[in-house]
Amino acid sequence: MHSVLMDVDTGIDDALALVYLLSRPDVRLQAITCTAGNVGARQVALNNLALLELCGTPGVEVAIGAEVPLEIPLVTTEETHGPQGIGYAELPPPAGRISDRHAVDVWVDEARKHPGEITGLITGPLTNFALALRREPDLPRLLKGLVIMGGCFYYQGNTTPTAEWNVSVDPHAAKEVFAAYRGLPEDKLPVVCALETTELIEMRPEHLQRLAEAAGTGPELVLPGQPEGLRSSSGNPLVACLSDAIRFYMEFHRLYDQGYVAHVHDAFAACVAVGRTEYTARLATVDVETGSPLLMGTTVADYRGLWGLPPNARIVASNNPKQCFDELINSVGALARRLA
Ligand code: BDR
Ligand code: CA
Repeated sequence: MHSVLMDVDTGIDDALALVYLLSRPDVRLQAITCTAGNVGARQVALNNLALLELCGTPGVEVAIGAEVPLEIPLVTTEETHGPQGIGYAELPPPAGRISDRHAVDVWVDEARKHPGEITGLITGPLTNFALALRREPDLPRLLKGLVIMGGCFYYQGNTTPTAEWNVSVDPHAAKEVFAAYRGLPEDKLPVVCALETTELIEMRPEHLQRLAEAAGTGPELVLPGQPEGLRSSSGNPLVACLSDAIRFYMEFHRLYDQGYVAHVHDAFAACVAVGRTEYTARLATVDVETGSPLLMGTTVADYRGLWGLPPNARIVASNNPKQCFDELINSVGALARRLA
């Protein structure tokens, strides 16, 4: 059984990551903490609660932490993820309540309570986790491991020419997190899923069709020629939700000349966290630029030891998109089938 504690900024691909983890019988979600990023933290929490209910798994704790980055004003990106963060999907207001615990307390308390058992998964800005590390510097040793979606290394950014979104929203937090991991044993170093490999996890219309097939429901057609904003008519609520969310993401990617596809970065990171997808990783010393207006949020990897500093990250160097989509589609499709 994998115990996972996730911190998210849900987010279309965060939503897919969450649904995927809920679909796995061998995953126990310890809690979900929410960081402002794609949308504000409260909206992130409402999205998570609504998704838990949609998937028939209410009762997982959803907690909010910092509602703004450590040192710079918050920027959100409704144009990328839709007005509520889940594209065109609209979920009913959740019956569940946001936890009374602060996200930082959740991370620190859960890690202390279950030393060596919990895998952390962070698919949003690193604000909450940086604050948790300030409170409990031993967090890296208390966790079983950590997977981060963030950064880009010698690869074009998606927010500035050199910076990736999650790091860009809170570069100071990312810098603190990488600094905290310097010199730790290799198996404790975060596995970093950065744009150069997460952009290979490119969801296409055929993947949604296969998802509907796996769910045992009618054909799901999300096609480039259709009018923008069309909604799914699927009788399966989970397929309809994911289809409406991902249609929005595909339209966004097309707007930025990337084709009618959706990069589902966070879903890949979720598969990595529970050991269900193939990848290789390279040890590196990572740092984040926070001083230069031009390069703010740029992640730099020293692969050669040129800085003379110990490694603090394992950066994913290769992955297997086909195998990853097979895993996502089969597992989420089976959950959708169970829910019908
Ligand atoms: C990351 O930014 C967000 O918009 C996505 O959810 C993902 O976590 C990709 O840069
Ligand atoms: Ca995210």
